[in-house]
Amino acid sequence: MVPVPGHDMLSLEQVTGRLESAGQAHVLQFWPELCEAEKDVFLQELSQLDLQGLQDHCEGAARAAASPSASLDPHMEPVPPESVGSVRKSDKHSLAVWGNEGLLQISEDRVGVLLLAGGQGTRLGVQYPKGMYDVGLPSGKTLYQIQAERIHKIQELADRKHGSKCTVPWYIMTSEFTLAPTEKFFKENNYFDLEPSNIVMFEQRMIPAVTFDGKVILQGKGKIAMAPDGNGGLYQALVDNKVLEDMKKRGVQYLHVYCVDNILVKMADPVFIGFCVTKGADCGAKVVEKTSATEPVGVVCRVRGISQVVEYSEIQPETAELRGPGGELVYSAGNICNHFFTRAFLQDVAAAHKGQLKQHVAFKKVPFVDTCGNQVKPTKPNGIKMEKFVFDVFPFSRNFVAFEVEREEEFSPLKNADGAASDSPTTARNALLAQHGRWAKAAQATLVDEPGNTLPPAASASAADNPPAQCEISPLVSYFGEGLEELLKGRALPTALLLDEKRAKELQAQ
Ligand code: UD1
Repeated sequence: MVPVPGHDMLSLEQVTGRLESAGQAHVLQFWPELCEAEKDVFLQELSQLDLQGLQDHCEGAARAAASPSASLDPHMEPVPPESVGSVRKSDKHSLAVWGNEGLLQISEDRVGVLLLAGGQGTRLGVQYPKGMYDVGLPSGKTLYQIQAERIHKIQELADRKHGSKCTVPWYIMTSEFTLAPTEKFFKENNYFDLEPSNIVMFEQRMIPAVTFDGKVILQGKGKIAMAPDGNGGLYQALVDNKVLEDMKKRGVQYLHVYCVDNILVKMADPVFIGFCVTKGADCGAKVVEKTSATEPVGVVCRVRGISQVVEYSEIQPETAELRGPGGELVYSAGNICNHFFTRAFLQDVAAAHKGQLKQHVAFKKVPFVDTCGNQVKPTKPNGIKMEKFVFDVFPFSRNFVAFEVEREEEFSPLKNADGAASDSPTTARNALLAQHGRWAKAAQATLVDEPGNTLPPAASASAADNPPAQCEISPLVSYFGEGLEELLKGRALPTALLLDEKRAKELQAQ
């Protein structure tokens, strides 16, 4: 249904006929008012739409809006604790074994990372891709730069351990909204010193937003309101853009898929990769313990006995609130959008299952032109956007594993603008600074303020009024706190401390 690349330009008559038979003739209601250039652009856009699929899409959306799909709650049960791997509950030896396995796979070029970056970042309210956001760290780094530097470092760690020269290719799924600015940003930043040919950007499909009675919404007189098809559009996009072929060519067997906004994301985390590989998993998800019943994270659970995620927007509040005998949440395994897939599993999904992914219905406020041609910004939802979710392939897995990690080490997403109580630039920045303060302390350094007073290692990451010590360690210096002792042990370091490669060299020389 969507811009299908390579479609020939249709004539106005052809488009009119197809729109009429799809019950969407209103799309051309302002045609006579468009200038020649606008007509050309619009005709091109319409030619690229799969107009056959349009009718199904519109009817499906209207049906879904009229009778929301039955709640999954009666069929939900928690994942049994013994089938969830856990950083917290595992001994050091197991963690080391998994970490080593992961590094070995990375060193042999078998691991790639895939960033989901096609979202519009509506809640954060910026007009540019979220990865370009600077949360106000001392270094001023954006999320994209932090991620790029973690790729550098993990390659280096694998190389050092195994004497290799490895590559972790970075696949980046964008959308019509994010592709051009992301490409430009990477180019302007010299691809953060990564090899450009190892960064593969591709675009997911877009689909039209539809009114509750199944009519395509016109965003302008010559423009349909289109939205990305959800992060589960990944599987179609992998096929459209021959990404699986690219993975095959490079010998990539394992893919770490993650979302753009988690400032603590561990790119190609060797422990997670190693855990999944050791368990023979084809599909895996990292989880953290939910902070509260209402935290907006999906929960990893079983539905009719099969592992999957029930999204926060779809679980009933009373189910989310269910508690066990100790007062703990029954559904506490929060999805942090960090997934592991084997290439073989993705090939299977692409070949057999991508058309079966559930369509989730979101009711949205979609700006539109009314029948008189006035631009309207609705104050309440007027449209339906259908979205696929990346985790909806879990039920097709033969061996799904969940892996619980520690929130303060791995999860602090940027979802909201500052002022919000959680998941804001401030909480993300503080989470990273607090983590780096802990690393410095573990390396036996003391952080001091200007008058020379010792600073406590870490405040609560969410405490905007009590921020942690300003200690930022470049991923180029340390990926997860390793290698810091030789630089920092026994030192009293004034804050703000920005430990980048240059400062690390100075410390080494002292
Ligand atoms: C997502 C998860 C949720 C999880 C939470 C953790 C999904 C469907 N939901 O929710 O279970 O608990 O993250 O932070 O995964 N994206 C695209 N294309 C799209 C839409 C989104 O690439 O069409 C990308 C976004 O750029 C982002 C990621 O998918 O990187 C997650 O999207 P977002 O809308 O932020 O998901 P949440 O609702 O926060």
